[in-house]
Amino acid sequence: MILNRPELQFYKAKIEEALDTYLPSSSCAPEIIHAAMRYSVCGGGKRIRGVLTLVACDVAGGRWEDALPAACAVEMIHAYSLIHDDLPCMDDDELRRGKPTNHRVFGEAIALLAGDALLTQGIVTMLDHIPVGLEQAYYQALRELVQASSTQGMIGGQVLDLAAEGKQLTLDALKLIYRWKTGALIRAALRMGGLIGRAEPQVLEALTRYGEALGLAFQITDDLLDLQADQEILGKTVGSDLKKQKATYPAVVGIDEAHRLATEEINRACAALAPLGESGKVLIALAEAVLHRDH
Ligand code: IPE
Ligand code: IPE
Ligand code: MG
Ligand code: MG
Ligand code: MG
Repeated sequence: MILNRPELQFYKAKIEEALDTYLPSSSCAPEIIHAAMRYSVCGGGKRIRGVLTLVACDVAGGRWEDALPAACAVEMIHAYSLIHDDLPCMDDDELRRGKPTNHRVFGEAIALLAGDALLTQGIVTMLDHIPVGLEQAYYQALRELVQASSTQGMIGGQVLDLAAEGKQLTLDALKLIYRWKTGALIRAALRMGGLIGRAEPQVLEALTRYGEALGLAFQITDDLLDLQADQEILGKTVGSDLKKQKATYPAVVGIDEAHRLATEEINRACAALAPLGESGKVLIALAEAVLHRDH
């Protein structure tokens, strides 16, 4: 289990409750788009990014409740990225979070629009729920999130990921793709929590370095799971990357070396938390669990 501490499970539950209240009801017109948004956001997903936001806020000395809108926003934007990532014009996948992908249920047009709508819903969720006195911190946090989702973040990484299909990349080129397509949102999740918790500069720096290394390790382990996981537990189609001839760590350096590099990044992530002392323990536990995750 990746959220291997009771407080992490508690945060996950709070995020799920809040997502349900922040998303428009599926009886609200036009019903189909709200049903499609809820289909992909609710009832599945590990909520790693949202949980990281809440833990970072806590570690920085803030109140986790104050970071809840930001935690939900990063989860909405992440869900949007997954809906689009699965489309036939992208990774063409049929299974996500143990269910048929969004476009298989709602059709491609609504899946496309549900992804778009989750981006705007994430932004408006933050703007509409700024805790009193945290206006400046929310402005900075929202900027981090939008930047991380941009052409120099998640979208840029997805563009490079598609362009790399069928190609033999250098490890450095691949690392840049991972920093952007996966690392950027994970880094932003941590920085948002830090900013909302009004972290001291060295704490924010530690959270940032941790996020960068964790993001890289998270995508490398995602690649390894794509090759080796039990599909039932993974909730996604195993072997999808091979089918699409994706440029991945295992494809470029082999399975053993990919595992070693993921371990190296996790060690780097944990070392970055040294300035946090005792309060960094929960993030260390989470990072270690990334290496052994089965989904
Ligand atoms: C999957 O992310 C996509 C990647 C960036 C690797 P997660 O593994 O966090 O997916 P969910 O949210 O738990 O479904
Ligand atoms: C996805 O990477 C990164 C995103 C920005 C969504 P993958 O394409 O490997 O993610 P999965 O394996 O489909 O979840
Ligand atoms: Mg992809
Ligand atoms: Mg994919
Ligand atoms: Mg993958």
